[in-house]
Amino acid sequence: MPDKIIGFSKLSRDKKISWISKNFLDNSNEFESILNKYLNDDKNLQSIHNSLSENVISNFHLPYSVSPNFLINNKNYCIPLVTEESSVVAALSNSSKFWYDRGGFKSKVLSKIKTGQVHFKYDGNAESLEKFIIENEHRLIESTDRITKKMRERGGGISNIKLVNKSKELKSYYQLHLEFNTIDSMGANFINSCLEIISKNFKELLNDSSKFKESEKRIEIIMSILSNYTPECIVESSVECKIEDLSDIDGITAKEFALKFKNAFDIANIDISRAVTHNKGIMNGIDAVLISTGNDFRAVEAGIHAFASSKGKYKSLSECTIIDNIFKIKLKIPLSIGTIGGITDIHPMVKLSLKLLENPTSDKLMNIICSVGLAQNFAAVKSLVTSGIQKGHMKMHLINLLIKQNATKDQINKSEAYFKDRDINSQSVKDFLDLN
Ligand code: MEV
Repeated sequence: MPDKIIGFSKLSRDKKISWISKNFLDNSNEFESILNKYLNDDKNLQSIHNSLSENVISNFHLPYSVSPNFLINNKNYCIPLVTEESSVVAALSNSSKFWYDRGGFKSKVLSKIKTGQVHFKYDGNAESLEKFIIENEHRLIESTDRITKKMRERGGGISNIKLVNKSKELKSYYQLHLEFNTIDSMGANFINSCLEIISKNFKELLNDSSKFKESEKRIEIIMSILSNYTPECIVESSVECKIEDLSDIDGITAKEFALKFKNAFDIANIDISRAVTHNKGIMNGIDAVLISTGNDFRAVEAGIHAFASSKGKYKSLSECTIIDNIFKIKLKIPLSIGTIGGITDIHPMVKLSLKLLENPTSDKLMNIICSVGLAQNFAAVKSLVTSGIQKGHMKMHLINLLIKQNATKDQINKSEAYFKDRDINSQSVKDFLDLN
């Protein structure tokens, strides 16, 4: 076992690599040579990557794909997607093409409030403190003027501060709950900076107040941080058509398909085992756009899954209805994202993705991301209730298996016809390569 190393981050890249090679990889040169292959030849580009994180020794590439024919609110988009899952983009492209001819996706942002909390301990009278917050709300907001001025000029900023008494759930525990509008930025840094300034000023104002006993003034700030739970930052997308316009799909009639599809959605609504996988299919599309546009997919994932259980039970995020012969699916999710700030004007591929989407406002990007999630959901459940997903999945996976077994270009070309009606697995690919 290697000794604990102090000052690793201060070592040069070469020294970091030698230390890792020596201690974890038997001094193998292969490590450095693979790392070097993935470095950018363009020194400026590499220095951008180096600055994005700590201890950077190379880059990790993922495929950058696009899905065209995406009609959202009557506008045709070509969606940038970063994902390693082979069938995601193909499924999405089929789905977007399918809905293009049926009016496309309709999407709207329903609300856009983000929140953050100052978590603190207080042992005095709750009503006096509440009164104090109401009286001082303006001064607390003013204390952030230096950093909120620009955001206010753009129409955003802090919109509300209120006291939340949680002392029944946890002794002496209270929150200052703040609401923000961060316009086109995700606003994590903005919100956290505001909260830290406000917590400091809250403590000082309380300390200077003559209305509280000395013992009541001794609040303890535990932490100040934004919340990734954003149930009031909501977007909704839907698609609909007449049942007969679904047309016959994979050997079953449009009506049979619609009913089976709705059954699958209803199952996801009542059963957690299915709901999690159903929602994972939605996230396949959502994450791919979040990554390509430089958004924090961990934050969105955390917020969306919490939202899925907001009624006390984890449920599917989307729903399917058949009313008066109209088949409709709808997805409603919280989405706290940005189109400015963060890495949106630093990472060249992120800049490119946003340009491809015609530099959308955050509302427009919310519409796009939610619609992609719904399209992905439709594609997955459509396969599940008809051919099953393995057919498409394994077709896409075939290429990975062929490359793994060093297939030639000629063998790859021949493989599609050979595997048209055959099972795809490591052994069958080996048999095919032996024969060809
Ligand atoms: C696979 O990545 C996603 C699916 O499992 C989603 C679903 O089951 O709905 C196909």
